[in-house]
Amino acid sequence: MPLVSMFELLQRAKRERFAVGQFNMNNLEFTKAIMEAAEMERAPFIFGVSEGAMKYMGERYVVALARAAAEESPIPVVLHLDHGSSFESVMRAIRAGFTSVMFDGSHLPFAENVRITREIVRVAHAMGVSVEGELGTIGGVEDDLSVEEEDAHIAKPEEAIRFYEETGVDALAIAVGTAHGMYKGRPHIRFEIIDEVARAIPVPIVLHGGSGVPDEDIRRAIALGVGKINVNTENQVAMTQTIKRVFEGKPDVYDPRKYLGPAKDAMRDVVRGKMRLFGSSGKA
Ligand code: 13P
Repeated sequence: MPLVSMFELLQRAKRERFAVGQFNMNNLEFTKAIMEAAEMERAPFIFGVSEGAMKYMGERYVVALARAAAEESPIPVVLHLDHGSSFESVMRAIRAGFTSVMFDGSHLPFAENVRITREIVRVAHAMGVSVEGELGTIGGVEDDLSVEEEDAHIAKPEEAIRFYEETGVDALAIAVGTAHGMYKGRPHIRFEIIDEVARAIPVPIVLHGGSGVPDEDIRRAIALGVGKINVNTENQVAMTQTIKRVFEGKPDVYDPRKYLGPAKDAMRDVVRGKMRLFGSSGKA
């Protein structure tokens, strides 16, 4: 089917207490690994594309890959801009064919973040495109975006609720203690914040930095109202470790299909595991 927006998917996720996985797309093998996992699990999902990945692959290739994957399949697939950094960047993604966008104004003063996010919601909704906003700062490194742990700050529940009311976003990412990249220790997730915000707003909360979060914490977050979880690093690690293993066994391999194929299969298995954990298996 054609690419879809997050509207219906996320409403259902919140209602039925499961989470839709956002899996970042970085190349053809990522695209296929995620799509194959979704078909095996009958799970709806979101292709997340950061501005860095967009630069790497090229806007037209990204949209063409996502469309090709979705159109061949009965599974609902969303193409979502991850951490859009400006009004202009978000508009470019919509024009290119994205069905969902995130505007990350979390580094801006609250009023400025609200003003730009609200404007994006107005335009995006007129075009049938869903919008994710962000409040509080999520730590860690993602592409060119790096936030030191001490600069990452947890969202205040009353601000998050006000942010939703003033912007009308379809999903709200709030910093609750997770970070992009791998964790040094166990992340300290502020479940009480998820609980308070999720009760007060009708749209799901988004958990960024899903890699390396213990399964029981993921289940608890979903039970409280997290309806979208982003995963990238664990997939990157699965792919790279498999490539290393192939070369350890056969250092003379030169056909990329001989190492990218097994790498794609390894990543597919990681994605399947996440879809089951998130409760999205069987929801397509
Ligand atoms: P991880 O790379 O930590 O899984 O985070 C992904 C993410 O949040 C993308 O926005």
